[in-house]
Amino acid sequence: MANLKFPDNFWWGSATSGPQSEGRFNKKNRNIFDYWFDTDKKAFFGGVGPDVASNFYNSFREDIKLYKEIGLNSLRTSIQWTRLIKNFETGEVDEDGVRFYTEVIEEFEKNGITLVMNLFHFDMPIELQEKYGGWESKHVVELFVKYARKAFELFGDKVKYWTTFNEPIVPVEAQYMYQFHYPLIVDVKKAMQVLYNTALASAKAIEEFRKTELLKKDGEIGIILNLTPSYPRSENEEDIKAAKISDAFFNNSFLDPAIYGKFPELLIEILEKDGALWESTEEELKIIAENTVDFLGVNYYQPRRIKARETEFDISKNGWLPDKYFENYDMPGKRMNIYRGWEIYPQAIYDIAKNIQDNYKNIKWFISENGMGVEGEEKFKNEEGIIEDDYRIDFFREHLTHLHRAIEEGSNCFGYHTWTPIDCWSWTNAYKNRYGFISVDLPTQIKTIKKSGYWIKKVSETNEIDG
Ligand code: BG6
Repeated sequence: MANLKFPDNFWWGSATSGPQSEGRFNKKNRNIFDYWFDTDKKAFFGGVGPDVASNFYNSFREDIKLYKEIGLNSLRTSIQWTRLIKNFETGEVDEDGVRFYTEVIEEFEKNGITLVMNLFHFDMPIELQEKYGGWESKHVVELFVKYARKAFELFGDKVKYWTTFNEPIVPVEAQYMYQFHYPLIVDVKKAMQVLYNTALASAKAIEEFRKTELLKKDGEIGIILNLTPSYPRSENEEDIKAAKISDAFFNNSFLDPAIYGKFPELLIEILEKDGALWESTEEELKIIAENTVDFLGVNYYQPRRIKARETEFDISKNGWLPDKYFENYDMPGKRMNIYRGWEIYPQAIYDIAKNIQDNYKNIKWFISENGMGVEGEEKFKNEEGIIEDDYRIDFFREHLTHLHRAIEEGSNCFGYHTWTPIDCWSWTNAYKNRYGFISVDLPTQIKTIKKSGYWIKKVSETNEIDG
């Protein structure tokens, strides 16, 4: 088969986040995960919390050297709100935090790796969660904007690419609907207010970014969304409608405001009917309308398989959930990543690309996460101690083949980032599922390049894959 060439200057990179890589070293404030771990270690796989993560705080120079060694030309991480800011109300910075991020940014620059800096990756300061209900509160939106402005002022002359949020739907789902992140509640009114408030926070941060002098230095700002296309079980009208509702909640709820500056009508219609619509003002809606993104990051792992409900949804038992309007469909024969329990469906990358091309202005975008988590990856270690992760190489190659086809057909995709460069700590799953090009041994923190690390190096150097 012929090799598949990618566009010039294509980003070959990877993604991590502050809370998942740095460790808590020298951090003066706690986020919801720091707090949760301090109060309930059992909630975390193997009782492992965010204290050390992959030690990036102490080893960032060596880590960035490793990124370079495996050929990554771009990388995304995030600033921790709880590290940069000392006083959330006033926006006063913590000088140690400023020094740390300044050095990290310089190190990326020195190594010629384009940095994408994200501002929020699930890590709400516990103080703001407890005092105000986190994203439930519009005051917290203002405090986030204050923090964002500080970050732009401090680092805007060095960082060209910014994103406001990573996967903003996740806190809505995890904290307020499906109970997998603190405070583990089910409350539709709060959930939907959180959804709206984060979309507003993103727009306001974008507005702030454009107000500063920084835009003149050709900075760009976007958002990172996890897109999980909803495929209906059949062509049957009811199944199609169910899939549309699922998309309205989980995908278009943030995609529409990011690109078009407004929320999906279908979502608003349902929420109005159920008395669960958020509180908004004309002025806020105008800000959302006027501050859409420069570019989009798409995290893609797996699709949703949806069918019309066959059983009555029991609100008294489950609380109000979007599942009231659809059911997940366990499609026979679907291909699975048996190590993580997620479906593997590379074709969806093509479908996402076409959707952006046809329905979302063909905005410029990149894959900001794609990856294969593997539990018990140790067993694939060879005699030299290198993990032979051929399954991951195949996974990437297949997804890239579909992405390539979409690019050939005019999709405006400029890069591919995997999750993640170095195995990292992952919220309540801690180190259960490994995703990196580079393994990390615990507790020694010895880092070893996997076979996929050598593979991506070649891909990045040649700008092509063997298709
Ligand atoms: C992504 C998140 O969706 O999934 C990451 O952006 C997370 O923060 C990753 O670590 C992997 O999740 P898990 O549960 O398989 O470890």
